[in-house]
Amino acid sequence: MSRMVSKRKRSSREDYPLSEQLKIEEGVFERRTMLHIKKLFTRNIISKLEFIIAKGKEADVYIADHGSSVPSDFVAVKIFRLETSSFEKRTDYINGDPRFFRIKSGISGIVNEWCKKEYSNLRIAEAAGLHSPKPYLFNGNILAMEFIGDSEGKPSQSLKAAGAADPVNALDSILEDMKKLYSRDLIHGDISEYNILMKDEVPYLIDFGQAVVKDHPKAEEFLKRDISVILSYFRKNYGISRNEDESFKQITS
Ligand SMILES: Nc1ncnc2c1ncn2[C@@H]1O[C@H](COP(=O)(O)OP(=O)(O)O)[C@@H](O)[C@H]1O
Ligand SMILES: [Mg+2]
Repeated sequence: MSRMVSKRKRSSREDYPLSEQLKIEEGVFERRTMLHIKKLFTRNIISKLEFIIAKGKEADVYIADHGSSVPSDFVAVKIFRLETSSFEKRTDYINGDPRFFRIKSGISGIVNEWCKKEYSNLRIAEAAGLHSPKPYLFNGNILAMEFIGDSEGKPSQSLKAAGAADPVNALDSILEDMKKLYSRDLIHGDISEYNILMKDEVPYLIDFGQAVVKDHPKAEEFLKRDISVILSYFRKNYGISRNEDESFKQITS
């Protein structure tokens, strides 16, 4: 963390001492990522970056101790990888969304736009009253949000891992949240038992990067797919049978 508080200016990567270059190359944090993380400290969102809690395809999620401007004990910090190339195929979600028509070229431009998109989608979710992490701040490829877990810093498990003690209630809560989101013109677009965390038996929707507005050309297709995925999870695991068309009508009415 000492690099973050360093005030020394370095003009290029070559100026880094070799030991630091190696540290960065070996995959702790890329230089731009470090600079972006710094803002979380200066804005008092976090006071200490702790450790990684999940490694994903495009992003890693860390737990951090909160700073003075955040009420809860912990903060989840999602760090999108800049070297990833899997974002190139994601332009399908970004193109067609009128909110994101100016994308800087290059992979970091796409990643930063994606991160900003997840932040603004989480804000919409918060305003709609969903069970979802409250967003705190985004900066470049970094997104800080409410930590979904217990007071000791243990992250909540996914629905896939934890299951639901009261599956009918859990399913109703998820469908209700999808309806609330839809009422704010947004569709999650990647709902599954992996993108739902179970905290005290309440399902929390996470991973809003790909969420699209209702006007998106594939909005209906994405919503129908979300419904189909979640209903089939509850059908296969708990024998709950719900009609997909009925659920679609209920969410969109
Ligand atoms: N706010 C959060 N609180 C606790 N854990 C989280 C939070 N956000 C993400 N995670 C953990 O990180 C994992 C990856 O996050 P996710 O947003 O789904 O990214 P990805 O795009 O890599 O799937 C999640 O499956 C979950 O285990
Ligand atoms: Mg996910």
